[in-house]
Amino acid sequence: MNLKYNDMNDILEFLIKRRSVRSFQQKPVDLELIKQLIYVANHAPNSMNNEPWKFIIIIDEEIKKKLSTLHKGASHIALAPIGVAVVAEPEISPETWMVDVVNAIMYFVLAAHSVGLGVGWIAAYENKKAKEILGIPDNKVLVTLLSVGYPDPNYKPREKSVKNPESVMFLNKWGNMLIRIKEN
Ligand SMILES: Cc1cc2nc3c(=O)[nH]c(=O)nc-3n(C[C@H](O)[C@H](O)[C@H](O)COP(=O)(O)O)c2cc1C
Repeated sequence: MNLKYNDMNDILEFLIKRRSVRSFQQKPVDLELIKQLIYVANHAPNSMNNEPWKFIIIIDEEIKKKLSTLHKGASHIALAPIGVAVVAEPEISPETWMVDVVNAIMYFVLAAHSVGLGVGWIAAYENKKAKEILGIPDNKVLVTLLSVGYPDPNYKPREKSVKNPESVMFLNKWGNMLIRIKEN
């Protein structure tokens, strides 16, 4: 399905064009800017507005290097000026922390892209080694690691295709597949 550009507002276009970035310029990132992005993340929808999360900002080269060896997909954090570990605090919102923290991560990521930063993700959910490296207590949940920096202008995002919306939609009940979106 092709959304036509003139049907799109700027925000839709921004959302569709956002891609993960895995290569960065060595240009430093102002920590005040990161603070502002976290301020935006704190506005994400979350149950009871408890904000059950913490962001660990990682600028220490040794720590980033150690994290970059967690697995094959983690290498980009070594060269990013900033790493971010997003940690949930389940005791604050025991029923909803997972959804809450994911909303905050997405707000942070989109805010970063909106100011010209690139963000790369690293799968690190409850990764023991990463928790140890970062000194995260056992009762907190490491949700993800992010690499953040100004994108390398030569970085080409990987090929990507997305599912047709009709293939992920049901009407009223599970299994009812009859949505037809009018194409014009
Ligand atoms: C929970 C999660 C874990 C991910 N883990 C990694 C990872 O370990 N390494 C990596 O390079 N990208 C990782 N990604 C990025 C995905 O590969 C990427 O979002 C997906 O391929 C879609 O591409 P796009 O973000 O450019 O649209 C992860 C994304 C998410 C949401």
